Amino acid sequence: MQFELQSTDPKSKARAGKVTTDHGVIETPIFMPVGTVASVKAVHQTELVEDTKAEIILGNTYHLYLRPGTETLTAAGGLHKFMSWDRPILTDSGGFQVYSLDGINKIKEEGVKFKSHIDGSYHLFTPENVMDIQRQIGADIIMAFDECTPYPCPPEYAKEAMDRTHRWLQRCINRFDETEPLYGHSQTLFPIVQGSVYPELRKISAEFIAETNREGYAIGGLSVGEPHEEMYAMSDLVCDILPKDKPRYLMGVGTPANILENIALGVDMFDCVMPARNGRNGQLFTSEGIINIKNAKWERDFSPIDSNGTSYVDQLYTKAYLRHLFRSNEYLGRQIATLHNLRFYLWLVKEARERIINGTFREWKELMVPKLQNRL
Ligand code: GUN
Repeated sequence: MQFELQSTDPKSKARAGKVTTDHGVIETPIFMPVGTVASVKAVHQTELVEDTKAEIILGNTYHLYLRPGTETLTAAGGLHKFMSWDRPILTDSGGFQVYSLDGINKIKEEGVKFKSHIDGSYHLFTPENVMDIQRQIGADIIMAFDECTPYPCPPEYAKEAMDRTHRWLQRCINRFDETEPLYGHSQTLFPIVQGSVYPELRKISAEFIAETNREGYAIGGLSVGEPHEEMYAMSDLVCDILPKDKPRYLMGVGTPANILENIALGVDMFDCVMPARNGRNGQLFTSEGIINIKNAKWERDFSPIDSNGTSYVDQLYTKAYLRHLFRSNEYLGRQIATLHNLRFYLWLVKEARERIINGTFREWKELMVPKLQNRL
């Protein structure tokens, strides 16, 4: 993997860049739709490419390991082949799911023992086997096995989890560096900065992670319930420490406004279930604000779903029709709303990129952020 920093905004810390993988190029800033179990829910692969214009998608080690399992994935020739997706993929390590999903999670130095949400069976994730599993899944970018702390989190525990994350990172690196990719394309390992909302811990963690000299870095443990201002403060502090010539990925963030604010602080990559999950519940993000399509006010509104929108569903269907689909609990309603929201997120980051390159990002962001939070 290679990263080329193409442009920096003169009035903020925003950056435009290019990540090159063996499955193609990703222009940053980028949003990565979440395809937890080898499927971006309700969207098939052709639509992901041609309509939402996704450049990279996310998979999840925890879910893929439990089902279909690594034997099926290796027999298929890896996740790209299994799901017929030939663009880049990033897999999260399970370092978030094993804490956030219900089940008994015993954290020890060796790793985390957890209970499957599918059949109640017990499993152990260690830094070593999580590297092996991600080799078998075969994503282009794989994540270190970390411990994501909740919010609020006492400082003593945040430090303990951060120190453990650093020790586990060293074990991840050792295993990753002594193993080879299985499918003929290269893989790269991103370490994850932790430290909760404590500036001293975030500084220690970012410095530790930067020292590992990998090809890209992630910021974890945010968007777990802390006020947005605390998230921005942590992301700002960490981006200032991480090297400029490597991509920075902020995990699990966020709302459209969160994304623009973090781009302004120097973040290059994002993922979040929000556009797809909220879309399935009838919430649409647009450049004028947020629409709850189930609302009675749209009953006879025969205007396009989003007259400024760039997905084909935006101009093809009306708000009244989409509302009807939701009220009738039709699959098509959820599909249309998901396509709209994913396209909107991908449009937002592409527009940000163009504005970074032409020097108008900051003014545009300041105009957009209040609009994005309007309730229509
Ligand atoms: N997704 C959102 N936050 C995190 C995090 O802190 N760690 C990991 N592994 N995944 C995440």
